[in-house]
Amino acid sequence: MKSILLFIVALPLLVLVACSDPQKAPTGVSEKVSVHEPGWVVPAAPRFHGAVLAANTFNASECRPCHGSQLDGGIAEVSCKQCHTSYPHPTGFVAAHSGYIKSTNYNLASCQSCHGQDYGTKKVNNSCLTCHTKTGGPEACNTCHGNLAGDLADLKNVAPPRGLDGETSPSTPAVGAHQAHFAFFDNLPVAAVCQECHALPQNFAAAGHIDADGRAEALLSGPLAALRTEGGARVPAGAYNTATNTCANTYCHGNWGLVKTQSKYAFIYAADKITGLNASPKWTDAASVTCGTCHALPPAGHNPFDLGACATCHQGVIDNFGKIIDKTKHGNGKVNVFNEEYPMF
Ligand code: HEC
Ligand code: HEC
Ligand code: HEC
Ligand code: HEC
Ligand code: HEC
Ligand code: HEC
Ligand code: HEC
Ligand code: HEC
Repeated sequence: MKSILLFIVALPLLVLVACSDPQKAPTGVSEKVSVHEPGWVVPAAPRFHGAVLAANTFNASECRPCHGSQLDGGIAEVSCKQCHTSYPHPTGFVAAHSGYIKSTNYNLASCQSCHGQDYGTKKVNNSCLTCHTKTGGPEACNTCHGNLAGDLADLKNVAPPRGLDGETSPSTPAVGAHQAHFAFFDNLPVAAVCQECHALPQNFAAAGHIDADGRAEALLSGPLAALRTEGGARVPAGAYNTATNTCANTYCHGNWGLVKTQSKYAFIYAADKITGLNASPKWTDAASVTCGTCHALPPAGHNPFDLGACATCHQGVIDNFGKIIDKTKHGNGKVNVFNEEYPMF
């Protein structure tokens, strides 16, 4: 009934258009005649093609005779891919969508246009949220990297292992020494630890999170990594080399110095300055950092003592066997000596 009505209404229009001289087309009337109904490409329109397909369980078989069996053009010479890079989804897309998204450099916005801003729009079987059950759905911080099964209340579960390519070994750059650093700094809030090395995105779409190279940025610019010493004259400019996977110039790994003339314990100095070794440890090689890598024992410019004697003055930090006994006092950006604690200066 409806289609007959439509036909009756459309018929005189078609005749009019067919007979009209293109040279004398009435103003305000488009010369272009579409085989499709008005509003076919207007999402808000009642006869929008997406709505029509939705009402028909997304069965696009009626489109294929003109748009091609693969919906990539056909005699209509209009490919659906012109507007929808990922739709119609190929068979097996549920299993393949993870790899597809990666191949588009994580363009999740392209899915939201149909699956909804919150990814909750239910299509034939599932919404994204059926499988991606954490807060944020597919944007949950451990969807693409980190421990997928882990609790997001613990930010450690956002860092590798499980790099973007599924890496789990500390000898890969994605995984590297993440866990070693979390273990070392377990007295600090995890977010602060991430921020020593990265700009921590507040949400998936935050600027700087996903960029063109698809590789994480290790900035090494946090307050400890970039702590200034030598009266402010020594400014660490931490840098990560993506070719060699080495870090350089961080306070943490020995880019620091203390100046005798500014010290209240000048007697301990064997030179004008006491300095660290400014090491360049390899992120993917745990063995590249040992006792004595970041500073000599004791450091250059410090009067010499045996390792067993450090505890005489650095009591509470180290024991009589040269073992660190309180890591909250070691690598904390402060001098710990004679049971005092004061900023590195
Ligand atoms: C009888 C042939 C035919 C069938 C069947 C057909 N189309 Fe088309 N379609 C065309 C042609 C030809 C065009 C090119 C421009 C025009 O005429 O609007 C087109 C254009 C389109 C456009 C772009 C319109 C624009 O203004 O850019 C969309 C979207 C579209 N078709 C969707 C569909 C969908 C979805 C189906 C199936 C439900 C379908 N078509 C079935 C012939 C067809
Ligand atoms: C001229 C651009 C254009 C072309 C060509 C086009 N579409 Fe669309 N289509 C849209 C827009 C715009 C939307 C609204 C959602 C969005 O922004 O992606 C949409 C939405 C859809 C939806 C989603 C409906 C829903 O409920 O989420 C389906 C299904 C769809 N199109 C199928 C097709 C098919 C099949 C073809 C090819 C025959 C096609 N489209 C060609 C522009 C286009
Ligand atoms: C143009 C609209 C449109 C866009 C854009 C779109 N989808 Fe879909 N998606 C659908 C429709 C419609 C269905 C329903 C089944 C079908 O026709 O494939 C669906 C189904 C799915 C399913 C299967 C769910 C199920 O269990 O049936 C997955 C997974 C999926 N889409 C993932 C994605 C991803 C990932 C993106 C972004 C890269 C995306 N889609 C972009 C329209 C779209
Ligand atoms: C039927 C279950 C299911 C549905 C529905 C589903 N996903 Fe997934 N998705 C998974 C699984 C499982 C993974 C884990 C990775 C894998 O096995 O490939 C995954 C992985 C992902 C990833 C990680 C990609 C990467 O490179 O690690 C993203 C992003 C994603 N899905 C987005 C979406 C979006 C967007 C939708 C809805 C449009 C969606 N998913 C719907 C099951 C689903
Ligand atoms: C000591 C410095 C450091 C800390 C602390 C750190 N990262 Fe990293 N992170 C790196 C380095 C270095 C890379 C590897 C860059 C490369 O070579 O691609 C990396 C890579 C990553 C990657 C990308 C993985 C991949 O597959 O490429 C993610 C995601 C990441 N870190 C998240 C985190 C999170 C979340 C935290 C805090 C819970 C954190 N990181 C703490 C240094 C650090
Ligand atoms: C859809 C996939 C995806 C989701 C979801 C995701 N990330 Fe990422 N993340 C990436 C990719 C890809 C990179 C590395 C690419 C780059 O830097 O260009 C990355 C890198 C990072 C890095 C390393 C620093 C950087 O920006 O390079 C941190 C830290 C990080 N993500 C934290 C988060 C947090 C926190 C969330 C949740 C708010 C989150 N990620 C959600 C894909 C994702
Ligand atoms: C990752 C680099 C690194 C390694 C490895 C390292 N240290 Fe340190 N150490 C530091 C830094 C940085 C300081 C400067 C003061 C601070 O920030 O706590 C320091 C200071 C000290 C101090 C002075 C007390 C204090 O904390 O102020 C002693 C003693 C010491 N280290 C002993 C050791 C011993 C013994 C080892 C091996 C078991 C060792 N260090 C390994 C980085 C390191
Ligand atoms: C006789 C006391 C004494 C002994 C023994 C001693 N130190 Fe120190 N050390 C000091 C004092 C005092 C300072 C602080 C200098 C200042 O504030 O200017 C210091 C500074 C340092 C620093 C740099 C500042 C800081 O606290 O990080 C390091 C590293 C250090 N000592 C390591 C060692 C190690 C390792 C040993 C054992 C091999 C050792 N010291 C033995 C008194 C001692």
